[in-house]
Amino acid sequence: MEIIIQPTYAGLTEVAAEIIRDALLKKPSLVLGLATGSTPIGVYEALVQMHQTEGLDFSGVTTFNLDEYVGIPSDHSYSYHTFMETHLFNLINIPSENCHIPQSTAVGHAEFCERYEAAIVAAGGIDIQVLGIGKDGHIGFNEPSSSLGSRTRIKTLTRRTREANAPHFGGTVDAVPKMAITMGVGTIMEAKQCLLLAGGESKAEAIANAAEGPITAEVPASVLQMHPQTVAVLDEAAASQLKRIDYYKEVYANKLELLAQEG
Ligand code: F6R
Repeated sequence: MEIIIQPTYAGLTEVAAEIIRDALLKKPSLVLGLATGSTPIGVYEALVQMHQTEGLDFSGVTTFNLDEYVGIPSDHSYSYHTFMETHLFNLINIPSENCHIPQSTAVGHAEFCERYEAAIVAAGGIDIQVLGIGKDGHIGFNEPSSSLGSRTRIKTLTRRTREANAPHFGGTVDAVPKMAITMGVGTIMEAKQCLLLAGGESKAEAIANAAEGPITAEVPASVLQMHPQTVAVLDEAAASQLKRIDYYKEVYANKLELLAQEG
């Protein structure tokens, strides 16, 4: 796993947005896997700014979101559909038919999940999967103990995840849906590149477990150690419990130096 440590959240968002911009400039038909939550908001803001100021073109991009709550309508103010429209889709020139988010209101969830997986394959697979991480090491809504080979399906959320998301539901845990549709860990692992983002001290333990701990279903993000192209972009606080901070910084400095030499 490549680990890039930036001093602040602002630096993290800049690096992550640049990775996406560079990929999009190389491949205008980029397929992006997207996450919601507080962590990627700054990255989406940076991409919107690149669209507005540099004309970064999203017209050929296709997106697949990781997850959506079950039991609330798509137009609910705290649905992930609304989140994505507010923070990204309505602010860039991506055709709405190119944006895919799990439909938790679909009749026949199992069939829906199969179609979602098939749509990802039909699009040519995900080029870059943006990921946040839960304090317990979840990715998507794959809670600890999720099969590391799991596919898109319905998962029951842990109490801890519902508590973490309660502020988005008026502060009441009971208002947070109990279940979600999520891409599986196995689905995520098929992305060509994973871009794991984490900011703040509350994520430090999860990041240390994911990057340097044993690979275990208890920390679903730890499976990313097996992914050939995962880049974790962190701020100092989220990186603070890593054992090899100095080495990761040296690796990244050397990479930048090489890139500069290559022009
Ligand atoms: C959201 C998602 C979750 C979040 C994670 C971190 O689509 O897949 O795994 O990435 O819960 O959330 P934040 O960024 O709010 O700390």
